[in-house]
Amino acid sequence: MEKLLIVDDSPEIHQQLKWGLKKDYRLLQAKDVGEALRLFRSHRPKVVTLDLGLPPDADGATEGLRGLKEILSEAPATKVIVLSGNEERENALKAVALGAYDFYSKPIELAELKTILQRAFHLAALEEENRGLLQATQAEQRSMSGIFGQCAKMEEVFTTIRKVASVDVPVLILGESGTGKELVARALHDNSLRKDGPFVPINCGAIPENLLESELFGHEKGAFTGAQSLVKGKVEYAQGGTLFLDEIGEMPAALQVKLLRFLQERVIQRVGGREDIEVDVRVVAATNIDIQQAIGGGRFREDLFYRIGVISMELPPLRERDEDIFLLAHLFLHRYSGEFGKKVRGIGQGAREALRSYAWPGNVRELENKIKRAVVMADQPFLEPGDLGFVDTAPVEEPAGDAQAGMALDYEGLTLKEARQRLEKELLLVALEKEDGNIVRSAETLGVSRPTLYDLMKKHGVQSG
Ligand SMILES: Nc1ncnc2c1ncn2[C@@H]1O[C@H](COP(=O)(O)OP(=O)(O)OP(=O)(O)O)[C@@H](O)[C@H]1O
Ligand SMILES: [Mg+2]
Repeated sequence: MEKLLIVDDSPEIHQQLKWGLKKDYRLLQAKDVGEALRLFRSHRPKVVTLDLGLPPDADGATEGLRGLKEILSEAPATKVIVLSGNEERENALKAVALGAYDFYSKPIELAELKTILQRAFHLAALEEENRGLLQATQAEQRSMSGIFGQCAKMEEVFTTIRKVASVDVPVLILGESGTGKELVARALHDNSLRKDGPFVPINCGAIPENLLESELFGHEKGAFTGAQSLVKGKVEYAQGGTLFLDEIGEMPAALQVKLLRFLQERVIQRVGGREDIEVDVRVVAATNIDIQQAIGGGRFREDLFYRIGVISMELPPLRERDEDIFLLAHLFLHRYSGEFGKKVRGIGQGAREALRSYAWPGNVRELENKIKRAVVMADQPFLEPGDLGFVDTAPVEEPAGDAQAGMALDYEGLTLKEARQRLEKELLLVALEKEDGNIVRSAETLGVSRPTLYDLMKKHGVQSG
């Protein structure tokens, strides 16, 4: 249910509106500007009805106009409908000039007011959808090799990738689990001169110590029991390309020495072999452990660190990437609703609050998994906290995730022109549907003239009614 803030000093008006509107909206009621602003700040309703004559200036309009200015300065997209007495018409017009969405003269005729409210909420939803599209387009422009991020720290990461990708030096990527280290390693490869060569990842933490050496360097036939033929190692397979040493912090001491030798001399020997094999690979490594601490504790060789960490970059944890959480959430939402063929269009208000306040110990991977799960579980067009495996902790009693609160993101992968066309058609359809095919009102909703609306309908092959 959408939240509606009603600001009025008259108990009768509150009574009347409560009775008339409580089935349609979650009502927030205030009798003066102070209370109104408190409620506004904690609930962020998209629509507000505002009486201009409020105490201490119940006969003038100073308080009402002050409230209006405050609300619009904090959230300019809010639709404020001024409720005024007939004799206050001039002040009502003044309010509209200040940015009020509309005004309505008392006495209140409920059916009329309901229509105005519906239009206001509708417009607010359209505008929000529009902002979602814009954000998606901008995100696309600012992503790099599938790495999404707009925060300052990710900008730095992108800059570093651009600078070092084509230089043939080792890079060490640091960051908590799930922050995108492998993605960055691939981006380094894809943006290097070696991009047509192989990208070969090996997880040094996942392979038992006794097998890791031959995994890395290969072995000759008969090198050990069971070595029935010559097998090349990952290093050799990476010839001409990039070797990605994941979880290098877990590499056993004996192998650290061998790796160091390879980095210094660019040659390897297979297990059981005597011949030096020259390999031309670029090494990118990653770890989620505190490498300085590992060096201090003698678990990681300092000389290897100096070789491998000529350039190191640190990926920020998701909890420090506030503005990226929604961006990534929408990215995954779109990805998985497409993959699973589900019509999930956005993230509801309650779910957004849950996403924002969660600490994300598993970072982007955890976010991706939660959204994936939510897309599977969702049975409404906008995700709710429960879909994400969160309890609804929002301060409202109703289940959050109202159908119009989320942003829709059906636009990724389209060119700007295609996206514009699609948005145009969608808005047209939504307006016509909402207004029951009424051309005059649909045109008004969309802010276009009637002839323009007809043109649009013709262009998109849409019939009214
Ligand atoms: N900035 C990002 N944009 C888009 N997807 C991302 C981003 N960062 C991470 N991901 C996705 O999150 C998941 C985890 O990323 P990745 O495997 O690169 O993390 P990692 O740091 O290597 O984690 P670990 O230390 O656990 O191996 C992947 O599915 C990846 O595609
Ligand atoms: Mg990884």
